[in-house]
Amino acid sequence: MRSFNLRMVVNAALAGTCLASPLAPVAIPLIDFQNINLYSQYAAAAYCNANNNGTLNPSTTLTCAGTGSQSNCPLVEGSRCSNDTENSRSIFSSPTYGTACFVAVDDTNKRIVVSFRGTDARRYPKTALPNIFSVGVQNPVPQYCAGCAAAKGYSEAFGEVNTTVINAVIALRRDANRSGYQVVTTGHSLGGAVSTFAALELRRMGIPVHAASFGMPRTANPQLADFISAQDANPNPNVNPQQRNYRVIHRGDFIPDSLPLSILGRESRHITPSFNITTDNTAVPGANDITIVTINGTSQQTGVTDSQNIYQVAHAFYLGPISKCN
Ligand SMILES: *[C@@H]1O[C@H](CO)[C@@H](O)[C@H](O)[C@H]1NC(C)=O
Ligand SMILES: *[C@@H]1O[C@H](CO)[C@@H](O)[C@H](O)[C@H]1NC(C)=O
Ligand SMILES: *[C@@H]1O[C@H](CO)[C@@H](O)[C@H](O)[C@H]1NC(C)=O
Ligand SMILES: *[C@@H]1O[C@H](CO)[C@@H](O)[C@H](O)[C@H]1NC(C)=O
Ligand SMILES: *[C@@H]1O[C@H](CO)[C@@H](O)[C@H](O)[C@H]1NC(C)=O
Ligand SMILES: *[C@@H]1O[C@H](CO)[C@@H](O)[C@H](O)[C@H]1NC(C)=O
Repeated sequence: MRSFNLRMVVNAALAGTCLASPLAPVAIPLIDFQNINLYSQYAAAAYCNANNNGTLNPSTTLTCAGTGSQSNCPLVEGSRCSNDTENSRSIFSSPTYGTACFVAVDDTNKRIVVSFRGTDARRYPKTALPNIFSVGVQNPVPQYCAGCAAAKGYSEAFGEVNTTVINAVIALRRDANRSGYQVVTTGHSLGGAVSTFAALELRRMGIPVHAASFGMPRTANPQLADFISAQDANPNPNVNPQQRNYRVIHRGDFIPDSLPLSILGRESRHITPSFNITTDNTAVPGANDITIVTINGTSQQTGVTDSQNIYQVAHAFYLGPISKCN
């Protein structure tokens, strides 16, 4: 089933449409690596119950899978949630799609972070629905750009927490001490797809966002994918960019290439650039193991991992065991 779907997708890409040729991959700047590493740990934390079930509050810190040297998010487990009870919190399972996330302040790294849980169909069956309702169905989103449409399940999964999440971020930024904090949206798999819409919404309000995702499915029609791709700031490798798209993929991870299926007509696309982790399976990558793959600011149909060699474990391991709390 899986390889069949993949082959169809790859064939469709080869048969197809107006894909620009990729620019040659280049190794990533250290600043991008540090950001990706930090944001992957926030994405990991979104799977852990205590961070997304309403327990997280200003007196607690983020929880990870494992403690000490065994932790899968050591960079963020020490960072406290904000002192702002009203605005820094976790959001537990929205009614239809089971969307869960946390909004947290990291005073150590000076970030305001929105992190979404990915699919956890065993514990939360509703989290499979966004993947299903994104197959071949797109909702128009003219509020972002003309002709733009979004994968139905992913955009509606965000829509269920839209107001709560955006209001929390805005309130946190009002605190003068945090006005300079970088706003980050992140998530793994489904969580990455949902978080893309949080980034879009915040950017529409003029707030610069680092939009990070790890192994996310396609979220957008070609117009919307191009629109988001064009929001990526032209990076100076020595300066932390204000706004960046970090779409991280891992060699052998089949999810970015296979979800949502394109078989019912409307195709979804990926945003650029992608950051391609080239190490195998559970090998921890360094900055030199990640390449930026840009298709010149335009969207991509395939996830461009390594469609010849698909590994189940590659989806669960990015800079560490990202879905270990799952
Ligand atoms: C939330 O998760 C934590 C950690 O697993 C658990 O101790 C707590 O009972 C949970 N609370 C609710 C309301 O589910
Ligand atoms: C948390 O907020 C309360 C009430 O606004 C304030 O008195 C206290 O100093 C704050 N604590 C920290 C650590 O910022
Ligand atoms: C989020 O809410 C805003 C304000 O109501 C709305 O304009 C926007 O369309 C919503 N976005 C999504 C993806 O639901
Ligand atoms: C904001 O910064 C000031 C000066 O460093 C400090 O006194 C105050 O406690 C901070 N407030 C919060 C909410 O962290
Ligand atoms: C990503 O890295 C893998 C492993 O090196 C490689 O097979 C694949 O072609 C790369 N993708 C792109 C678009 O460079
Ligand atoms: C990228 O796009 C720009 C502007 O459309 C164009 O001038 C340039 O030739 C393109 N570069 C490549 C390598 O396709």
